[in-house]
Amino acid sequence: MLVPAGRVVMISGASRGIGLAIARKLAAEGYCLSLGVRSPARFDAGGFDPALTLIHGFDATVPETALAWVEATAARFGRIDGLINNAGVLRQIDFADGDEAMLDDIWAINVKAPFRLIRHALPHLAHGDNGRIINIASTDGKRYRPGVSVGYTMSKHAVLALTHAAKFAGWEHGVRATALCPGAVDTDLIANIPGVTPRQDRIDPTTIAETVAFLLRLPNSSSVAELVMNTRLETSI
Ligand SMILES: NC(=O)c1ccc[n+]([C@@H]2O[C@H](COP(=O)([O-])OP(=O)(O)OC[C@H]3O[C@@H](n4cnc5c(N)ncnc54)[C@H](OP(=O)(O)O)[C@@H]3O)[C@@H](O)[C@H]2O)c1
Repeated sequence: MLVPAGRVVMISGASRGIGLAIARKLAAEGYCLSLGVRSPARFDAGGFDPALTLIHGFDATVPETALAWVEATAARFGRIDGLINNAGVLRQIDFADGDEAMLDDIWAINVKAPFRLIRHALPHLAHGDNGRIINIASTDGKRYRPGVSVGYTMSKHAVLALTHAAKFAGWEHGVRATALCPGAVDTDLIANIPGVTPRQDRIDPTTIAETVAFLLRLPNSSSVAELVMNTRLETSI
């Protein structure tokens, strides 16, 4: 298994929810962290060692922030070993409700921004012989479930395609890519969505964080392309 100490991991959307849980877990394991957040000034850095942590602006809807964040990470730590594409949004859009601006928003944040970050980070990840990309997708990336936002489901299916493409792009240089596909996780994202999994049955964000920590430590010989973690009884997933 890979050893966390000295490895540098970027996490988008680290301000709250799953991203913050991942950041806390990886900090406890001794990783150097580069946390991409929309408002660095508002980020509560308590609990993160300043010597091992960079907090940098990243807005998925502002393309130039992706390259700036990647370059700042490489400049600060001299290497990048992991990229966790976590930032994401859920807008309710289906064939009857929602408009194309919402669809564009979902696409920009959930799909184009991870694509852009992978594009910029890949040369750095490929440099270290065991770079890792983990894209936080969803069970909605694995199947369509009636009632769930069509726009969100489309975006998460695209994240699966992106993950497989990234795996091919980096494979020869030791980069491994995983699409982590959880069901309902207990965060703000689904707090007010009708018909969602009842709170007591949702996954705790710390469980996702533990899973990410495990995936990051796997050696190159143990590539996990997709990891589905369901809260519901369904066929296949
Ligand atoms: N919760 C679930 O049930 C669930 C299930 C499966 C997959 N997921 C996926 O897990 C990921 C994290 O979701 P979550 O549940 O932790 O949601 P959350 O609690 O709503 O947090 C979303 C995170 O994304 C960031 N973000 C939103 N728009 C952004 C933008 N334009 N640029 C940069 N960052 C932005 C937010 O930053 P701010 O604080 O600045 O808003 C926040 O850090 C998402 O990709 C989501 O699709 C969630």
